[in-house]
Amino acid sequence: MNSFVYEYPVKVYFGEGCVEQHLKQLLGSYGKTVLLAYGGGSIRKNGIYGQITAVLEAAGKTVVDFAGIMPNPTYAKVQEGASLVRENHVDFILAVGGGSVIDCCKIVAAQAKTEQDIWEMEFSGHQYPHEWLPMGAVVTASGTGAEMNNGAVITNEEKKIKAGVWGAYADFALLDPAYTLSLPMEQVVSGAFDTLSHCMETYFGKPDHITLSDEISEAVMRNTIRNLRLVIRHPQNMEARSELMWASAMGENGILKIGKVTDFQAHQIEHQLGAYTDCNHGQGLAAIHPVLYRHIYESAVGRFARFAKEVWGICPEGKNEKELALAGIDALADFIKEIGLPASLTEMGITDKSILKAVADTCNITAGCCKKLNHDEIFEILKKCL
Ligand code: NZQ
Ligand code: ZN
Repeated sequence: MNSFVYEYPVKVYFGEGCVEQHLKQLLGSYGKTVLLAYGGGSIRKNGIYGQITAVLEAAGKTVVDFAGIMPNPTYAKVQEGASLVRENHVDFILAVGGGSVIDCCKIVAAQAKTEQDIWEMEFSGHQYPHEWLPMGAVVTASGTGAEMNNGAVITNEEKKIKAGVWGAYADFALLDPAYTLSLPMEQVVSGAFDTLSHCMETYFGKPDHITLSDEISEAVMRNTIRNLRLVIRHPQNMEARSELMWASAMGENGILKIGKVTDFQAHQIEHQLGAYTDCNHGQGLAAIHPVLYRHIYESAVGRFARFAKEVWGICPEGKNEKELALAGIDALADFIKEIGLPASLTEMGITDKSILKAVADTCNITAGCCKKLNHDEIFEILKKCL
């Protein structure tokens, strides 16, 4: 087994009503001025903004609004947040939203503590923040698991790069599954597919032999598939929504990654696609995964065969290993269609072939992928995704 260190700094409060139950008391540990960060306005429509500002008021806090964090948050938005923090002497950041809001705040929290430009510091200087303004996260859209790690995916529009930047860990995360009830079903589906993708990207990494982390991963994948089907059929099913929300956190809280070198090649391709098209993350992944897997599966045929059997329940009888592996990838592609995700870039409205070369050429190549790709192969994969 590979050596590992496991420690987790994020305290999670899970369940219906957890914000009303715990937020006021949690805020007591921090200073007076709170940056209340959120997205394009969904929390104002669904009442969450009112609930949270009432708690902040009752806790005697001065609130500084940081609104309009867009899906696929930009580096310019990070700098806007950091300026607000400095100008208003903010003591604490409360991120209320999905992955985009939480990610943006992780980097605002770190940028606010250093005079250096954090992008340059990390990508040129290879230095990573070790101090940040304290923050908490209230999750309103699950899938990314962003609340449980300190990686943030930020789009640098000037450089045309969407990449992982390291920032703050939230001190606490509040996960109320009822907060997801107002999410458009399209986003529920895209988020849950992101969870499935995080599991797959870890499962198909290294080592080759099956580990405890892989077996837990299989359970999270089966759970996500089952509960997404349930939520699509019965959107009010709180038990299924709760499972999806916790599965999302499990995908990115490091447990599945213990002892693994993760793959995440599909994510690297999708992130650069996002840099060029601003596409929805889960949808981009859906268009890429089956094509990528058909390209690489022969390098890990045993693992893909196991995926078919353990995750999709495909009977191995009468199939050789390769046929079983391909049947698993077919099942994944069928599931993508079944849940209404786009099965191609064209379905997502991305038809401009000319950008695909730039996406491929600027995409990171990962060490954990069972087949180490080159940029030309990524270009070929992207063309097949059209
Ligand atoms: O902006 P508002 O108006 O709030 O609307 C949002 C947004 O349009 C809406 N929404 C969120 N909660 C809602 C709601 N609408 C109604 N009711 C609610 N309760 O949903 C839309 C999408 O939100 P967003 O936060 O962008 O979605 P998601 O959680 O999928 O986050 C995507 C971002 O996270 C990154 C992605 O690359 C992308 O930038 N990722 C972050 C990761 C991490 N930090 O660990 C890992 C992932 O792989 C991913 O890359
Ligand atoms: Zn993801």
